[in-house]
Amino acid sequence: MPVALPALKIRNTNIRVPIIQGGMGIGLSNFTLAGAVSRDGGLGVLSSAALDRILSQRHGRKMNAREAAAQDVRDAKKIAHGAPMGMNIMVAVINQYRDSVLGSMDGGVDVIISGAGLPLALVEIALEHPRANEVALVPIASSGRALEIICKRWLRAGRLPDAVVVEGPLAGGHIAWRTEEEAAAPANRLENLLAEVFEVAKKYGNFPVIAAGGIYGHEDIQKYISMGCAGVQMGTRFLATQESGAGEEYKKLIVESSEEDIELASRVGSPCGMLFRVLKKSPFYQQALKHERAPNCDKGYLLNKGKCLSKEENEKTFCICNGLLASINLNKLEEKNLYTVGAIAHRVKKILSVHELMQELQGLNFEVMKPLSSSF
Ligand SMILES: Cc1cc2nc3c(=O)[nH]c(=O)nc-3n(C[C@H](O)[C@H](O)[C@H](O)COP(=O)(O)O)c2cc1C
Repeated sequence: MPVALPALKIRNTNIRVPIIQGGMGIGLSNFTLAGAVSRDGGLGVLSSAALDRILSQRHGRKMNAREAAAQDVRDAKKIAHGAPMGMNIMVAVINQYRDSVLGSMDGGVDVIISGAGLPLALVEIALEHPRANEVALVPIASSGRALEIICKRWLRAGRLPDAVVVEGPLAGGHIAWRTEEEAAAPANRLENLLAEVFEVAKKYGNFPVIAAGGIYGHEDIQKYISMGCAGVQMGTRFLATQESGAGEEYKKLIVESSEEDIELASRVGSPCGMLFRVLKKSPFYQQALKHERAPNCDKGYLLNKGKCLSKEENEKTFCICNGLLASINLNKLEEKNLYTVGAIAHRVKKILSVHELMQELQGLNFEVMKPLSSSF
């Protein structure tokens, strides 16, 4: 039975529907998607990855990372009629991290969500900005231990997390584990990670805990709320909406996919060393599996200890930035497309509008929830 979902409050930001649309780079959780989600009562989250390129093209003038982050927030807020807006900033995009934080704050962002590494420096950077007090700072953590490290470091800088997103192994994009065995271990199931994180969150002031990774529908959301989560973060369902930045081919492959079409890239993987979930049929991934793409990285966004390993070799890694930029038509090089998805992508059978999806997730639109062929 559908139940009314409680509103979510993160620091000063009130979110009517406790659904955060996860940040999806590069260019997938764009201003049209995040704007539509916030307009519909959830929290839309932009991705700061490669915004300098994306916004320079959108606005026809050269923008640096800070200007681009500010403008993307403004563009999305216009669509959202001023409703709260989030920005996802990946630690691994190290060279633009500071500019992305400050630029988002310039543009009026309400919530910064940061992961893909431990966001240890986030508070210190945010405190440089005059809006620091207004903006919620939310780390992504995949264990109680990671959250404890973050809390200790943030406390020294004078702030605690305003909420935490706990991302389990079924999520799209990068996940926190380095081997498939670790990702599949029962101890790392989202439910078990949440139990650890609740303990740490309680110890540091009981801030809201948000569950992420593998959440498909209204019943899943109810389940995590009844476990004590204040809300959920969802990526894959929003990727497969009309408003997302994914192209037609990407969406088609999602709708047509079966479980076997989704894989954690590990034989050859992301240069940042974390597992990365892909659609096996992505042309860029197929090429990488055969080691046919010559080692090259001319982008320099996602770095591991200051460098992109796939600049030097193609046996173990592939340059995901080149593949992701190609798949949003923003790569001057002739590169093939790379598609990342979450483990539930094969359950998506229709591309909905954000409004239809938000209705379904709240249990408000029964027709969308049940296929027409069902027996009632
Ligand atoms: C296509 C795609 C791209 C993603 N990119 C990012 C990203 O750039 N940064 C990040 O922190 N998380 C990223 N994620 C993770 C999402 O924000 C979200 O936490 C996750 O997808 C939740 O799992 P779900 O896809 O099962 O709903 C991405 C997920 C997807 C599906």
